Amino acid sequence: MTLQIHTGQILHFLSAQTHEYIPSGALVISDGKVLTCGDKTTLLQQYPEADITDHGERLIMPGMIDTHVHYPQLDVIASYGEQLLDWLNNYTFPAEDAFKDPEVGRTTAQFFLNELLKNGTTTAMVYGTVHPQSVDAFFEQSSALNTRMLCGKVMMDRNAPEYLCDTAESSQTDSQALIDRWHKKGRQLYVVTPRFAITSTPEQLTAAGQLLKDNPDVYLQTHLAENKAEIAFVEELYPDRDSYLDVYAHYGLLGPRSTFGHCVHLDDQDLKIMSDTGSRIAFCPTSNLFLGSGLFRLHHQPAPLNVSIASDVGGGTSLSMLQTLNEAYKICQLNGTSLSPLEAFYRVTLGNAESLLLDDRIGNFTPGKEADFIVLNPAGTPLMERRSGKCTSLEELLFCLMIMGDDRAVAATYVMGNCLWNADKASGDVH
Ligand code: GUN
Ligand code: ZN
Repeated sequence: MTLQIHTGQILHFLSAQTHEYIPSGALVISDGKVLTCGDKTTLLQQYPEADITDHGERLIMPGMIDTHVHYPQLDVIASYGEQLLDWLNNYTFPAEDAFKDPEVGRTTAQFFLNELLKNGTTTAMVYGTVHPQSVDAFFEQSSALNTRMLCGKVMMDRNAPEYLCDTAESSQTDSQALIDRWHKKGRQLYVVTPRFAITSTPEQLTAAGQLLKDNPDVYLQTHLAENKAEIAFVEELYPDRDSYLDVYAHYGLLGPRSTFGHCVHLDDQDLKIMSDTGSRIAFCPTSNLFLGSGLFRLHHQPAPLNVSIASDVGGGTSLSMLQTLNEAYKICQLNGTSLSPLEAFYRVTLGNAESLLLDDRIGNFTPGKEADFIVLNPAGTPLMERRSGKCTSLEELLFCLMIMGDDRAVAATYVMGNCLWNADKASGDVH
């Protein structure tokens, strides 16, 4: 048994309301899993044989989780001037065509995973492209790093360029083959991924529903009610349904394993259905601002809703969950509410793990959890060093990190106890 002890300031969440903060703390790891965490002096005495890594005053936290991101869209971040439907047609679809080449998938997946780790993100729920090989490439790279990742092949059979379309039948067969190949292989998990109602025929949404019935423990991800023109188009395509959400409900796609990106424009009746079915919402602040989609009301809960926070790159503008929190805070301000720093860091750790039903594995430091953790440096830039030097409470320090922080505030990232990113030793690539 290999024992490791990491010392520093420890922060993790036990629930939405409860956190544990140990200013002089130690995290004990045995064979890639959390053994315990607690007071540094006590634990160093208790485990004299352990390898010790001292992180000084830096903050040790669980790895951050991104619940909605498109790895093939790295090359369309910062594409000018359009809202959702034109942005998809003019920039995104052409960029996704490149992923017919498995080598593009491999190199992009490797780059993407490196970027996630540098940004302190250790788990993400990820869209591939329509090409099954894009998902093979992603899971191959993730398996090599032993990161816990969720991914799926996009299903789309209409309203997209012909070169990007599959069929209802081929999408079902290809998705099933990927499930058989990757779901629960090591730390990899499969997500059935109909892009959105606009790009799927009723036959394809039926196929997506059938995949969920045939494989009850896979996930589902799609987009919902992001943009007004999108919603109008869905109403034209599905005139018999009561609402956009009702399209997905009709094909059996709602439930606790289903995450719907955006949901900016759902009315209270639909939010109630989301709540009743346990369906998940992924709030994507940088994307909603960048594409001019609207202001999601995080604290508007006509019924108890499960909302995670996500980057949605390349509609989103940063892979950093710290920058994602920065923009989430501003959207809340515009809605007249405040996203507190403790709520924010709960959300990007345990909260997002709960949303993905993975809180029995990741999200905090209770014994037996997979040891995915990060070391945050509140002095990541000279200005951050200056500002954080004035902080007199944990909350103030966390707020400084979420408003000013980005990859420069991530000193190190560990996956199953292995260091995969160390800013002090960085030579460019994750090792
Ligand atoms: N709706 C359908 N596809 C997409 C996508 O790739 N990005 C975003 N933001 N919304 C979508
Ligand atoms: Zn998206």
